[in-house]
Order: sequence, then C-alpha cells, then structure tokens
Amino acid sequence: MAASPASRVEIVRDVASLRARLADWRRAGETIGLVPTMGALHAGHISLVHEAKKHARKIVLTIFVNPAQFAPSEDFGSYPRSFEPDAALFEAAEGDLLFAPSGEAMYGEGFATTIALAGPAAVGLEDRFRPGHFAGVATIVAKLLNQCRPDVAIFGEKDYQQLQVIKRMTRDLDFETEILGVPTERDADGLALSSRNVFLPAKERALAPSLPAALRGCARDINEGVAIETALYTARAAIAAAGFATDYFEARHAETLGPIASRGEGPVRLLAAARLGKTRLIDNIAV
Ligand code: PAF
Repeated sequence: MAASPASRVEIVRDVASLRARLADWRRAGETIGLVPTMGALHAGHISLVHEAKKHARKIVLTIFVNPAQFAPSEDFGSYPRSFEPDAALFEAAEGDLLFAPSGEAMYGEGFATTIALAGPAAVGLEDRFRPGHFAGVATIVAKLLNQCRPDVAIFGEKDYQQLQVIKRMTRDLDFETEILGVPTERDADGLALSSRNVFLPAKERALAPSLPAALRGCARDINEGVAIETALYTARAAIAAAGFATDYFEARHAETLGPIASRGEGPVRLLAAARLGKTRLIDNIAV
C-alpha cells in the first residue's frame, strides 16, 4: 500500500492488500462506499464520490480499464488513461482508497468465468451494438463487489442500461451491496460528460449537444401529450439533420428497458446512441 506524503489517499494494487485495509475499517465500524471507474476522471465521476460520501464513511474508488468489456474492434488500447491527475482529483474529493489493479490481478492465469445475462442486458440497445459488453461489465463489477464487499456502490445514470443490468444482477445473485445511480453531469451546453469526449474534434464537439437537445425535445413532446412514436420520429430526424448516424433512439420502460408504447404503461426513459464522425455518443433522459 502507498500514499504520497501529503496525501490521505491510499493506493492499492492487489486484492490481498485491499481486503486487509477494508477488514481494518470494518473492524473499526466504518461503512464502505465503492465507486467503480475506468479512470480518466471528470466531474461526473467526482459527483459519484460525493454521492458515496452521503452513504458511507470510507470511499474506495477503483480504476481499471476492463479489457473484457471492449470488443476487439473497440478502443481498449486508446481509451484515455491519466492515473496521476485521477489520483489528485480523488484526493481533492476527500476519497480514502484508490484500488488500481493490474490486468493480471483481475484476470489471473486460467480465468474462465463470465456472468451470463438476460433481462435489461438483452433488450436491443447497447447489447445490440456491443455484443459481449455487458457480460464483461457484469463480471468485473461482480469481482469488485466481492473484493470490496461495500455497503453501497455508486454508478452514473449516463450508462443507464449498465446501471439497470447491475441492479438486476445484484438482486438476482443476492449481493448485499446497495446499488445507487447518480444523475448525469453535463457541460453548460447539455453534452453529457464522458471520458471519450476528449476524442471529439472541435467541429463535432460543437454539433454534439444536438443529441441531448433531441432527447429533451422528445421528452417535452411526450409530456405534452404527443404520441411516443411521433415524438421519436421527430427526434430521430433532428439528430440525423445535425449529422449523426443513429444506432438507436428509443423510449423504454425505465426499469426493465422493455418496449413501452405509452406513458400509462410505466415510467419512461429515452435512450440514444449515435455516431458523430469516429466518436460514438450515448445519452438518456427521464420523461
Ligand atoms: O462505467 C464504467 O466506467 C465501467 O463500465 C465500470 C462500471 C467501471 C466497469 O468496468
């Protein structure tokens, strides 16, 4: 375990040291909040730390760019990595322990287990465009929950389908940790904060807020009584006109993520993924 002289954040890179420190805390009666991340921290991640601090006394942030949730064609190699600035941000947010394991520490030789998912992981949204992604996410999150056994774990609503998948998995597999979602942090122009926003060239960065604007417009239309299919048609046309290639722009039941045809059928969530040049943006909003 290591901590720089002026730092209160302890940096841990192996599971045995992590468990030893957490056992100390539990013996001292502390509660533990977990914030799993892949690093490249921004204000969205820090809002998760702040939320965690409302529910637990000791906060563990994990940084692990999980290869199992990237397809070979995706950006695992170029995913932004910024350990020192991340550690400084976590320190400024008054976190306690940063767990940053190596690939070998998480996927030892002979690793052969994956969590098989259905329900909100198989509804034709991200799962349709990123086959295998949620199995990779669920497996690593299950490992982190077992390694830390936190009282609460915090995830952003930015990855809304991921949040529902994790809630379903922890309910189904009897994890004791409470899973909480935190609303998406946005730039002033409405763009959801994302570690991948750094890849947006200036021209595309200027167009990107059209996606959250279309989501807001669609939610407003539905709230004003426009039929869901009509509101979706208008929103899809708006982002196509702004230059996006749309993977999906859908209205779904907010918990099951199953199809929903009218507001009367339950809480509605709008979810979208669309590509602007080489960058794929995802976003969602409650209706
Ligand atoms: O949302 C993320 O950053 C990742 O999917 C997570 C939950 C840390 C698992 O690798």
